[in-house]
Amino acid sequence: MGKEEVIEGSIWVPEPGLRAFTVAVLRRLGVPAADAKVAADVLMAADLRGIGSHGVARLPRYVTGIKGGSIVPKGSSRTVKQTRATALVDGGNGLGQVVARRGMELAIRKARQTAVGFVAVRNSNHFGIAGYYSMMALKAGMIGLASTNAAPLVVPTFGRTAVLGTNPISVAVPTGGDEPFVLDMATSVVPRGTIEVYDRQAKEMPHGWAVDTTGHSTTKPRAVLEALAKRLGGGILPLGGEGEEFSGHKGYGLALLVDILCGALPGAATGLDVYADEDAANVGHFFGAIDVRAFRPLNAFKRDMDKLLRTLRDSPKAQGHDHIYVHGEKSFAMERERRAKGIPLGPKVVESLRKISGDTGVQWIA
Ligand SMILES: NC(=O)c1ccc[n+]([C@@H]2O[C@H](COP(=O)([O-])OP(=O)(O)OC[C@H]3O[C@@H](n4cnc5c(N)ncnc54)[C@H](O)[C@@H]3O)[C@@H](O)[C@H]2O)c1
Repeated sequence: MGKEEVIEGSIWVPEPGLRAFTVAVLRRLGVPAADAKVAADVLMAADLRGIGSHGVARLPRYVTGIKGGSIVPKGSSRTVKQTRATALVDGGNGLGQVVARRGMELAIRKARQTAVGFVAVRNSNHFGIAGYYSMMALKAGMIGLASTNAAPLVVPTFGRTAVLGTNPISVAVPTGGDEPFVLDMATSVVPRGTIEVYDRQAKEMPHGWAVDTTGHSTTKPRAVLEALAKRLGGGILPLGGEGEEFSGHKGYGLALLVDILCGALPGAATGLDVYADEDAANVGHFFGAIDVRAFRPLNAFKRDMDKLLRTLRDSPKAQGHDHIYVHGEKSFAMERERRAKGIPLGPKVVESLRKISGDTGVQWIA
């Protein structure tokens, strides 16, 4: 994991054109210009950083959500309650990216005043990649945290039905000369998209990724996907895999923690209720900003960060490997490459975007 595979038959599309197409589609559906730009920016960040599953490939779902009424195009998120360091925000069922960006901005503003800012959000929608929001804190010299709950796909340790989402966690930490540390990860072993890829390629999955309806590990992707779709049971395993042997219970704990902070704390949906209501997903998010200067001078902290990351990179490599990565590193490299080369879109994604073009009258670019 960590490096996106380019699907056979992909075309390469320049990022500015794809961004303009995304903005125009959202505008056509009634999203205000500034909000359409924010949503497109988050989708482009995912595609540039090699997380195609959360990039423009998701646009069809947002279009369906807006047309169906579960996503309000002219969203009106509002602060329900606040202290100097915290806020509870109601997303008003707006586009997740727009609600989330405002939530993180608020956390950073609060941290400027009090050294820390924590914002919990309810009544939102799918926000894309968590790393976009945690990284917003970097420019302010702060550590950023971002998290969201998600549709139930993950089976708790010793369970046989999916109760929790793939609930991602992201933490971004500023550095000096080096690229920042950006941990951005689902709390499941794999996302559903990876199981779908194995299914399309008719490949067996490794043991420990997913369980069937008995609650035990299976290598058959089709069985897992069908059972999940029909809500018969089975699902993806939390980080660590099946049972306790490789610490699946710890991944389960992390996924649950995310649902507590993003669901229970703001009063958003939790567990099986996330996306249960077709009219309002009630997804919840949690954002945090910590001002490093409340602890130490920023430059001294950054110097120590650079030293720590360099120690890791310079440490002895396993046989057959010549590089130790730091979290975020592969994505920064990918972003540089894709800004120059464009973004690869698989045939299915292109087909879905052409369909949106036909439906909305926004001209497709490729
Ligand atoms: N909105 C949602 O509901 C939702 C749900 C789940 C995941 N997501 C998003 O999906 C994306 C992908 O998640 P994932 O768990 O598949 O990510 P991943 O497994 O590709 O990477 C996880 C982390 O590990 C780092 N990494 C990768 N290889 C590494 C290596 N060899 N050494 C050190 N670090 C390495 C990456 O930079 C990243 O920080 C994330 O952006 C996440 O926010 C969103």
